[in-house]
Amino acid sequence: GKGLAVFTSGGDSQGMNAAVRSVVRMGIYLGCKVYFIREGYQGMVDGGDNIEEANWSSVSSIIHKGGTIIGSARCMDFIQREGRLKAAYNLVTRGITNLVVIGGDGSLTGANLFRQEWSSLLDELLENNKITKDQREKYKYLHIAGMVGSIDNDFCGTDMTIGTDSALHRIIEAIDAIVSTAYSHQRTFIMEVMGRHCGYLALVAALASEADQVFIPEDPVPNNWVEKLCKRLQQERRSGQRLNIIIVAEGAIDREGKPITAELVKKVVVDNLQQDTRITVLGHVQRGGSPSAFDRILGCRMGAEAVMALMEATPDTEPCVVSLDGNQAVRLPLMECVRRTKAVAQAMADKNWDLAVQLRGRS
Ligand code: F6P
Repeated sequence: GKGLAVFTSGGDSQGMNAAVRSVVRMGIYLGCKVYFIREGYQGMVDGGDNIEEANWSSVSSIIHKGGTIIGSARCMDFIQREGRLKAAYNLVTRGITNLVVIGGDGSLTGANLFRQEWSSLLDELLENNKITKDQREKYKYLHIAGMVGSIDNDFCGTDMTIGTDSALHRIIEAIDAIVSTAYSHQRTFIMEVMGRHCGYLALVAALASEADQVFIPEDPVPNNWVEKLCKRLQQERRSGQRLNIIIVAEGAIDREGKPITAELVKKVVVDNLQQDTRITVLGHVQRGGSPSAFDRILGCRMGAEAVMALMEATPDTEPCVVSLDGNQAVRLPLMECVRRTKAVAQAMADKNWDLAVQLRGRS
């Protein structure tokens, strides 16, 4: 059967295990020899025990686990051609020419580059007598399918990334818990949530938890934000509300691009309103714990689709990313999605937030 390997790369997220499980089982079902690559690209570069054949039962009892059982890493070696050469050797000598990568945009960009270089990497391996002519010929095509695993929901082309829904659950549970203590003491709480340069988690968590205010990178606050915020908080207290919840995305900024931090917001509230105020930074709690039903099923569906895409690939099939479009798992050109995601980052850097939001939406 065909050699197929799956690995997880970059920050972990809930639902990655469901995706790994689905890839392994679908691969075996379709007659492939399936491998785990442990520790992301680092394991691909280092080879050895990091690349291990998987079987049906090696993915039993993992669907409910958070994180990724095969490990993940942000790998520096793979950034160098030297590292990619070692990775190519480790794949070819095991007969692996199909890769499923589960990770964020950096990991998917790396996969695309690897595929573009594949031919020249094999030539170099042949020249150095690392592989035979037969191997050069037999494994001349590398096929790649990606899936986006990230809590941030910051990747263009998919409605939801694997892990976002679970992270949202974690956030609203935490807010609910905070609300009860805030109520007792008539306090204001500022909750900082993750998301890197994307405000999705903060915005949706704010809607789902009845927060009073949210700060996100895509909608930087105007100059008079202090007055507006204070007025609103005051009004709410006057109308009988005993607490306030303010959510700050970790990437929140003002229109000059300066960070809006939880500390800054706290200072504003304390200095202007003298409210008893506390900060809670949720941190990696958001990325931990068991995946929601949604993320488990999302991982399963995407994993199966990724394997099918690889099995149907012809020599000139471009790498794809499996994404969610409405309720459908669809295949999109990997490079196009990466390009759009980079364009969003550029638009944000250029302070063109409308364009960023527009690019993030469906094409
Ligand atoms: O991309 C996922 C994410 O959790 C971001 O929300 C956050 O900014 C970052 O990773 C944290 O990275 P690390 O786990 O390396 O601290």
